[in-house]
Amino acid sequence: MDFKKHIAANVKTEGLTEQDVYDMLAVPPVSSMGNFALPCFRLAKTLHKAPNLIAQEIAGSYKDSVVQAEALGGYVNFKIDPVCMAKDTLQRVLSERERYGSSDEGRGKTVCIDYSSVNIAKPFHIGHLSTTVLGSALYKLHKFLGYTPVGINHLGDYGTQFGKLISAYKRWGKKEDIEKGGLRALNALYVRFHEEAEKDPSLNEEARHFFKKIEEGDEESVQLFEWFKELTLKDVGRIYDLLDVHFDSWAGESFYNDKMQPVVDELREKGLLVESEGAQIVDLSAYDMPPCIILRSDGASLYATRDLAAAIYRKETYDFYKSLYVVAYQQNLHFKQFFKVLELMGKEWAKDLVHVAYGMVSLEDGSMSTRKGKVVYLEDVIDRCVEKALAVITEKNPSLENKEEVAQTVGVGAVIFGALYNNKIKDITFSYDKVLNFEGETSCYVQYTCARAYSVLEKGGTVRDYSVEEVCPQEFEVVKKLAEFPDVLRDALEKYEPSFIARYAVDLAQLFNKFYFDCTILGAEEKTRAFRLALTESVLITLKNALGLLGIGVPEKM
Ligand code: ARG
Repeated sequence: MDFKKHIAANVKTEGLTEQDVYDMLAVPPVSSMGNFALPCFRLAKTLHKAPNLIAQEIAGSYKDSVVQAEALGGYVNFKIDPVCMAKDTLQRVLSERERYGSSDEGRGKTVCIDYSSVNIAKPFHIGHLSTTVLGSALYKLHKFLGYTPVGINHLGDYGTQFGKLISAYKRWGKKEDIEKGGLRALNALYVRFHEEAEKDPSLNEEARHFFKKIEEGDEESVQLFEWFKELTLKDVGRIYDLLDVHFDSWAGESFYNDKMQPVVDELREKGLLVESEGAQIVDLSAYDMPPCIILRSDGASLYATRDLAAAIYRKETYDFYKSLYVVAYQQNLHFKQFFKVLELMGKEWAKDLVHVAYGMVSLEDGSMSTRKGKVVYLEDVIDRCVEKALAVITEKNPSLENKEEVAQTVGVGAVIFGALYNNKIKDITFSYDKVLNFEGETSCYVQYTCARAYSVLEKGGTVRDYSVEEVCPQEFEVVKKLAEFPDVLRDALEKYEPSFIARYAVDLAQLFNKFYFDCTILGAEEKTRAFRLALTESVLITLKNALGLLGIGVPEKM
């Protein structure tokens, strides 16, 4: 039963439809104020009465056997009967199980999600963590709510840097070393090129020459480029597997090589293209933005040109309902510019493009730097977290059988959760100790809570039959939290905030632990015991669903 709907249907007041009431119902800040509150301030104007009077009238006329209405100031507070709510919620969780929280509200709607979008032959560093795990969580969340997500890795596989790489490889590279060293070996070549080019600028000329060769389709150069790409994808693929991240399309920047001319033509036809210092630009000064450069003076296309072509291609190919770009806020201007250009081109769907911007991640032991090869590889961060998790687990539970496997789930979870716990726009400092604190607001705290629930259920046995006759406050807090889950997911999707799910998991785990320490489960009298076991199982199901949406697994024992 949807209690919010139920309340909305029972509130009778002049000038408000059921939908109005539904939209106005909010969750009060403290639980003693009930489950939902209806603010009456907005109504004061239309009804020409004081808000507290309106609240009293609504509460007075509210008739319902399962929900109690009470006026408090300008609010009507609604309290759902705990027994009724517990019955309803548990029944729902225990029947829907791994589908609990899901819905089909996105049916028929395709959502493109551009995320991770790594650069070929460049290190996959800690700076890519957020886009990768945020995008992946949004992907899973959309799917869970019935949408058809299309995960796109808009590979950075075009640009003069590939000319540099070929030049460096031909000068100093050894096939075996590169095969073995993968991405890091390629990056070392790249760094060396820059060092040597500082002494001998003619190297830059050579690089331009090789880049041109790739563009002309020269067999050897293209083959080398494809090889670099293959090596990169193999390396990043390992990390994607670890993080449980998937893509439906790997169409990168070079995919749009032959799709930009029509865009340039259309811009020209529509009178949007103007020449400026030899370059072709779209003037955006009317919108307080610098111009969007479409073609450089040498005729070369730019990042924005490719994004214009890609957006149009995605609309034509997927007919998306929304198209998301999970990219750092440093690129705010870029997205504002090319969204505006599409709007000026008359693409009414430009309004459906969303830049999901997020903040920076740095490590507590000094910020990262991509220049001169001083980078923090994401894989190293994951490895170190897994290693530390193993140490903690070994200390806490030396006899645990599959320690390595558990440490992997815990360590990887810590990295993901650490990046997703805060509102995405905030800059964060990644701390190993913080993300692996078993008592903190962390994934291992939630995982540990799940292991506790597993152990209770193992000892108590699965409960098929339970009834609810009485609900104590600790139990009721858990029930209310459980019931919130579907709304939390909807909210997280609407605001593109997987952090809501992460916070929810911590909140639910905390409430469960309070219940666990305050109330006897296994030793309770039969009926209470059965209900408490059912409650425990519901918590476990919901926590697993929440973590699963973030790409985090749950070990049975820790
Ligand atoms: N490869 C780019 C970078 O690392 C991100 C690409 C984002 N996607 C896009 N369609 N522009 O900065």
